Amino acid sequence: MGFSLKAHNTFGVEVFAKEFIKITSENQIADYFKASSNQDFFILGGGSNMLLTQDIHQTVLHNKITGIAKVFEDDFTVTVEVGSGEEWHELVLWAVTNNYAGIENLSLIPGSVGAAPIQNIGAYGVELKDCFLSLDAIDTHNGSKKFFSKEECQFAYRDSYFKNLGRGKYFITKLRLQLRKKAKLKTAYGAIKSKLDEQGIANPTIKDISDIIISIRNSKLPDPKILGNSGSFFKNPIVTQSVLQQIQLNHPDVKSYPTNDPSQYKIPAAWLIEKAGWKGHNRGTHGVYKNHALVLVNHGDASGSEIKKLAEDIKASVKEQFGISLEMEVNVF
Ligand code: EPU
Repeated sequence: MGFSLKAHNTFGVEVFAKEFIKITSENQIADYFKASSNQDFFILGGGSNMLLTQDIHQTVLHNKITGIAKVFEDDFTVTVEVGSGEEWHELVLWAVTNNYAGIENLSLIPGSVGAAPIQNIGAYGVELKDCFLSLDAIDTHNGSKKFFSKEECQFAYRDSYFKNLGRGKYFITKLRLQLRKKAKLKTAYGAIKSKLDEQGIANPTIKDISDIIISIRNSKLPDPKILGNSGSFFKNPIVTQSVLQQIQLNHPDVKSYPTNDPSQYKIPAAWLIEKAGWKGHNRGTHGVYKNHALVLVNHGDASGSEIKKLAEDIKASVKEQFGISLEMEVNVF
């Protein structure tokens, strides 16, 4: 039957892998790709941004390369090197404990450090690219080591080189981040501001912000250990001003955010999905989370294909009602 991946994907979907190898060092993965002409592999980190709809007939390479080390320090900054198999939130807690600023707004994002650059994780006004310096990876074709500068990673909204031309070509082994000793905290995001006011905090510490983000996320997003999910299932769509105006005609309450391009606006996918009537939708084994319309959940025994079907139905319904094509954020296999 193979190796069950149920405990290795945050949706908690049961599929089986032909073979499962735990990777614990850069040398091990370099040797694997040097020795093997077999390109039939599947790289798995925390399994937090994927929906598995079928058994994996490839060799699963499970990234467990660990280690967090300070490699440079001056009066204002520290450079940290992190093994890609570390859990992202463990790294955030390490930074918060040491009073290093930069990633506290990214508290509690599920997944591994190695997955973070692939989709340029982001939350509450901060993206990975804001503190990212560089990464090391192993070329999956010949096992050679490759250094990627920030520019080479081509970061964009939930996007990077590794999701596009670089897809499947590299196994990321190590990230370098620059954190700050003198905190310059990002508190502009509405929900953070109101929590600070509520708690009467005028000069928040790094830990205050991290604690607030953790409580906001806990109140809105389900804990994957309790209810299988993969965070935001779709990206927030970017639309032209005329599309936004069209929606505003019938829905003056629609929220929108400016983008780098002054003619384009981001609309919350959660709002579109909620307006289309899907929030809290329940199909027994799976559904749409009651507190956040952008999160699809596995109530227990859903298959990946069932969840995919729900995602497709939501997509079709939003397209029909608003003329907007939602793009999946989660990788479907
Ligand atoms: N909203 C609704 N209905 C809902 C939930 C939200 O209408 O059920 C509307 C509200 O107007 C709200 C707006 O959507 O103000 C935005 O909601 P929220 O602040 O929760 O953020 P989001 O745009 O849904 C994005 C990221 C999240 C990240 C949050 C916070 C994407 C695809 N998602 O969600 O990232 O945590 O912002 O910064 O960009 C993830 O990628 O998995 C993820 C959870």
